[in-house]
Amino acid sequence: MAKMEVKTSLLDNMIGVGDMVLLEPLNEETFINNLKKRFDHNEIYTYIGSVVVSVNPYRSLPIYSPEKVEDYRNRNFYELSPHIFALSDEAYRSLRDQDKDQCILITGESGAGKTEASKLVMSYVAAVCGKGAEVNQVKEQLLQSNPVLEAFGNAKTVRNDNSSRFGKYMDIEFDFKGDPLGGVISNYLLEKSRVVKQPRGERNFHVFYQLLSGASEELLNKLKLERDFSRYNYLSLDSARVNGVDDAANFRTVRNAMQIVGFMDHEAESVLEVVAAVLKLGNIEFKPESRVNGLDESKIKDKNELKEICELTGIDQSVLERAFSFRTVEAKQEKVSTTLNVAQAYYARDALAKNLYSRLFSWLVNRINESIKAQTKVRKKVMGVLDIYGFEIFEDNSFEQFIINYCNEKLQQIFIELTLKEEQEEYIREDIEWTHIDYFNNAIICDLIENNTNGILAMLDEECLRPGTVTDETFLEKLNQVCATHQHFESRMSKCSRFLNDTSLPHSCFRIQHYAGKVLYQVEGFVDKNNDLLYRDLSQAMWKAGHTLIKSLFPEGNPAKINLKRPPTAGSQFKASVATLMKNLQTKNPNYIRCIKPNDKKAAHIFNEALVCHQIRYLGLLENVRVRRAGYAFRQAYEPCLERYKMLCKQTWPHWKGPARAGVEVLFNELEIPVEEYSFGRSKIFIRNPRTLFKLEDLRKQRLEDLATLIQKIYRGWKCRTHFLLMRKSQIVIAAWYRRYAQQKRYRQIKSSALVIQSYIRGWKARKILRELKHQKRCEEAATTIAAYWHGTQVRREYRKFFRANAGKKIYEFTIQRIVQKYFLEMKTKMPSLSPIDKNWPSRPYLFLDSTHKELKRIFHLWRCKKYRDQFTDQKKLIYEEKLEASELFKDKKALYPSSVGQPFQGAYLEINKNPKYKKLKDAIEEKIIIAEVVNKINRANGKSTSRIFLLTNNNLLLADQKSGQIKSEVPLVDVTKVSMSSQNDGFFAIHLKEGSEAASKGDFLFSSDHLIEMATKLYRTTLSQTKQKLNIEISDEFLVQFRQDKVCVKFIQGSQKNGSVPTCKRKNNRLLEVAVP
Ligand SMILES: Nc1ncnc2c1ncn2[C@@H]1O[C@H](COP(=O)(O)OP(=O)(O)O)[C@@H](O)[C@H]1O
Ligand SMILES: [Mg+2]
Repeated sequence: MAKMEVKTSLLDNMIGVGDMVLLEPLNEETFINNLKKRFDHNEIYTYIGSVVVSVNPYRSLPIYSPEKVEDYRNRNFYELSPHIFALSDEAYRSLRDQDKDQCILITGESGAGKTEASKLVMSYVAAVCGKGAEVNQVKEQLLQSNPVLEAFGNAKTVRNDNSSRFGKYMDIEFDFKGDPLGGVISNYLLEKSRVVKQPRGERNFHVFYQLLSGASEELLNKLKLERDFSRYNYLSLDSARVNGVDDAANFRTVRNAMQIVGFMDHEAESVLEVVAAVLKLGNIEFKPESRVNGLDESKIKDKNELKEICELTGIDQSVLERAFSFRTVEAKQEKVSTTLNVAQAYYARDALAKNLYSRLFSWLVNRINESIKAQTKVRKKVMGVLDIYGFEIFEDNSFEQFIINYCNEKLQQIFIELTLKEEQEEYIREDIEWTHIDYFNNAIICDLIENNTNGILAMLDEECLRPGTVTDETFLEKLNQVCATHQHFESRMSKCSRFLNDTSLPHSCFRIQHYAGKVLYQVEGFVDKNNDLLYRDLSQAMWKAGHTLIKSLFPEGNPAKINLKRPPTAGSQFKASVATLMKNLQTKNPNYIRCIKPNDKKAAHIFNEALVCHQIRYLGLLENVRVRRAGYAFRQAYEPCLERYKMLCKQTWPHWKGPARAGVEVLFNELEIPVEEYSFGRSKIFIRNPRTLFKLEDLRKQRLEDLATLIQKIYRGWKCRTHFLLMRKSQIVIAAWYRRYAQQKRYRQIKSSALVIQSYIRGWKARKILRELKHQKRCEEAATTIAAYWHGTQVRREYRKFFRANAGKKIYEFTIQRIVQKYFLEMKTKMPSLSPIDKNWPSRPYLFLDSTHKELKRIFHLWRCKKYRDQFTDQKKLIYEEKLEASELFKDKKALYPSSVGQPFQGAYLEINKNPKYKKLKDAIEEKIIIAEVVNKINRANGKSTSRIFLLTNNNLLLADQKSGQIKSEVPLVDVTKVSMSSQNDGFFAIHLKEGSEAASKGDFLFSSDHLIEMATKLYRTTLSQTKQKLNIEISDEFLVQFRQDKVCVKFIQGSQKNGSVPTCKRKNNRLLEVAVP
């Protein structure tokens, strides 16, 4: 989503006032209160016009994120709340777009946040300037120069754990596009005394501790060092470790940074060797030794350390040893060598250590410059960042403070000049009348210090160069003489000459009333420090070193370039470099960051008003505001001004069509702002008093509320209306749909109801018609029926006389006939077979035909039997008659009977006719032979049997011998009375003869035959047909027979099977004949 461009202003949501220029009334109290109020709300930045006042928060705030960078990027300075990024952006943009070289001057006392501020500016510029591999490398090198310089130039002090002990000015160079090309760093006045001595609770430079903590064992051995701070005299022990600082890790960071910046490995090593040498120098100790000539002399106590230093640096040990013992003074081709006493030897040692270290530091800066310098020759735009110590007012102020404060005077000077100049230029540019501004110009103080003839520095140099005994006291005396009348100089003696002895001042001190406050300087050490003396013997010894880096640090030691002129004093050197710096700065557009330390405890959230008040005073911030407000307190281009306040006037609200200036004029007239309160410039409106601006702001705020209400009102109205319209539209749509739906539903209901009603009506109608039709039909039928009955009645009445008697009977008969006819016709087809033994007979169809049916069955049976019989021949008929006769006689009476049924009755078994044997027999018989058969005749006496031919004729019964055929017996049939036989399955039979007959003389006959049934039957029949009498046939198992006179009982018993199936006959006694039947 594109970010909505909202025109904002510094004046929006201000805590206190964002710009001190708007402070009303303006005094120290309101100033501090405003700062405090903002500080309490985490607003650590406040403007004084275009100057940024920064209060150290001593804790990380979330206001430096990449998002914040984006917020401030390309926004106008006064658009957002005060921020160091706003100043950085302003500087970078005017450098890039308006081609103006910039300088950013960061001042403030130690621990106020100067170095942090300079890093923030650099990181902001790095973030917003061009990108690309090459550019990034340059950026990286520029940023990485910081850790290296901080390691060598920063130390823990009581005020700041990472206090810069040197002044730094860095020019960052850009090309026409605003891409960084490189940079140049200048360093000012390293606090080298720290190398040999640190105040209580402070440390030496970081690098010593970092080296001892972070170096590998190997490196330490090489450097002949031990990992033990207490071994080294130059390291203060009471704060060797700093909370939250990891020296070992920082050592690695520094080595890494050195690599990025472009240090070769051997260069980095050489640097560390020098550091080690400095550290070891501190361990060289001297002892006094009396010489014969009475002069004091010193001797090195333990030469081991010296030896190691010499090994490390490649210096001849004897040379160095001598340099610590003698001092050679050359004057007018004359060399005078004097011995050094112990104090002098220590002085020489410390001087060497300080010089070695400070020269190493300068070498480092130059080396870095070599790496980061711009590679091209094209015209460069420059942004300078000055991170320099601010005013220092301690209890004991010495030469260093004097120099530093001098530098700050100069900076103030340039500030005043540039601010006023700019102010004036703006007035001219805007065509506004220039009114004189009453402010304090510190040029007079600068003059007091730097004046070439009677300035303090000049006088100090004079003293130092003067032959004869020179002490700090002589210097002070001189000052007392020369500066006595100066308004800003005070000392006990100088005042004394004019008025009284100023007892408020101690001895051997002087006081300068700096623009930022009075500072009392101890004069002790001024001469020495200004001289910055290193005995020539030492520098020459150094020059002789085999170590190339050390050799290069002491060019004056070269005997070929011997220079009898004294080297420039520290004071004059500094004065010169400050002058160069000022010159440099004057060509640039200045941007100020004033850092303020809120407390001495390095603690967050504490705002020590007294401390801040002090800083405000010596930073001259109130002066700052006054200068800024001298003419007009507030100015703003017409467009943003009109944009901001146009709602206050009907003509300009909501749109002003003319030029912005005319709009502002109309606006101000309308608001009746007094004419003296503002002035129209070419492009800006100038407002004299903040009061006026606040009045405008108040009006605006009130008006904005009204407008907000109005907008709210309109918006709410619009919202409600659109909502209403939407609802209405929706309602219509819903209603339409609902109506449609309801109508459809209703239509369906009506339709279905109509159908129901319709069907009911149709049904009702149909039923009605049906009813009518039925009625009609019934009427018709009834009429017909009635007519039929009536006709019937009529006809019957008419024809009754003809029908009445017979009709029923006839019809009945006819019906019966028909039925019977049908019955017979059907029977014809259903007739069973003609076999007499077929039992099948069709079922009866009608009950009333039951008897007929049975009769018919009987008749049919008889008929088919007759039919069957009719097929028979006479002979066969005879046979059947005989069989029938046999059946009547023996069936169910004689056990033998069933076996005879199947045997045909042949009668003449013996064919007498054909057998010539029986010719005689045949001839003797005239009658027809009925039976001719061989039977067994039972002997009456013993029961044995003999075979006989048995012959039956029509009238007689004949027995003949089987062999001869001779007739043995002849019985006429009339004499046969009875035939007896058993009921069993045997062929015995007895023929009873009529008593008294001829034949009966021998008694009844007893035979046994296989054809008993046939013989008995034929005998019976023949008897019957001849005598017309029925022959008696007795069937019993015990019967009596007449043998001559005896009546013998023939008894049939169950015989054993022993004799086979043939029955045996035995005569038991006279009366009994037993037949055993098997
Ligand atoms: N803007 C800031 N935000 C957070 N902490 C800060 C800020 N400025 C300074 N500090 C803190 O204050 C300490 C001192 O700052 P520094 O810049 O080294 O002071 P100076 O250079 O003025 O002596 C820093 O180490 C840091 O802890
Ligand atoms: Mg610093």
